Amino acid sequence: MTETLTAPTATRGLVEITGVRKSFGPTEVLKGVSLTVEPGGVAVIVGPSGSGKSTLLRTINHLEKVDGGHITIDGRLVGYEVRGDRLHELREKEILKQRTDIGMVFQNFNLFPHLTALENVAEAPVVAQGRSKAEARRRGLELLDRVGLKDRADAYPRQLSGGQQQRVAIARALALDPKILLFDEPTSALDPELVNEVLDVIRELAKSGTTLIIVTHEMGFARDVADTVVFMDQGQIVEQGTPQDIFSNPQEPRTRSFFSKVLEPAFNI
Ligand SMILES: Nc1ncnc2c1ncn2[C@@H]1O[C@H](COP(=O)(O)OP(=O)(O)O)[C@@H](O)[C@H]1O
Ligand SMILES: [Mg+2]
Repeated sequence: MTETLTAPTATRGLVEITGVRKSFGPTEVLKGVSLTVEPGGVAVIVGPSGSGKSTLLRTINHLEKVDGGHITIDGRLVGYEVRGDRLHELREKEILKQRTDIGMVFQNFNLFPHLTALENVAEAPVVAQGRSKAEARRRGLELLDRVGLKDRADAYPRQLSGGQQQRVAIARALALDPKILLFDEPTSALDPELVNEVLDVIRELAKSGTTLIIVTHEMGFARDVADTVVFMDQGQIVEQGTPQDIFSNPQEPRTRSFFSKVLEPAFNI
């Protein structure tokens, strides 16, 4: 029997984004973005509204096509294949298959309202991976336990707080055993007192060896959890580095100006 390597020695989930460009009509919203996130790494993307953060996340699981550049996960192109000397978009079926490697958590949870917490978590493994219902439920309960919600397995989303709904959404994203998890402002829709329960779950995931790419405005959390902080503005990565580099010693005037507006004066690294 071959031994499988598991976290924390992450061996999968290398994300390489190279020169990615994306326009909507005449507006170029990603202007050649390059970023590498190592297996098991945690990259936090910060920057002003409209700078292209969500669009960049959406290119990583090919919810957006790119107009230039490319993205690979563990060396494999996302959304395209090379034929001759050109990139051709994969067929829908292939794209959906690739996407099972990449979990995404949205600002507004996006749970199915007519399904219980457990059914929300257990559905994709049955539909996308052909697991048995019993197996998907067993694993679903494990995942709900991991996000502290085993006792709410039979609750419907409307019966849960925003923080609980987002934790179900995280359990659901984990259900396909993704290599990579993308978070797009996972706490922005939450009442302040519910933010921490969600951030605590993400903090735990950060130790687990799954590659995380997180867009957030929670700078204290970014400082704690990131190995790389990426500052984006106007469709470009202006600066990236350790939290120490970016928060305490930013090199670029645009980075300094942004943090002078969003950080409390007493924010220390
Ligand atoms: N589907 C779309 N069609 C047209 N413009 C879009 C679309 N999605 C995003 N944009 C525009 O692209 C820019 C970047 O948006 P977005 O990636 O959502 O930024 P952020 O997440 O940093 O706030 C914005 O100007 C936004 O209006
Ligand atoms: Mg956004």
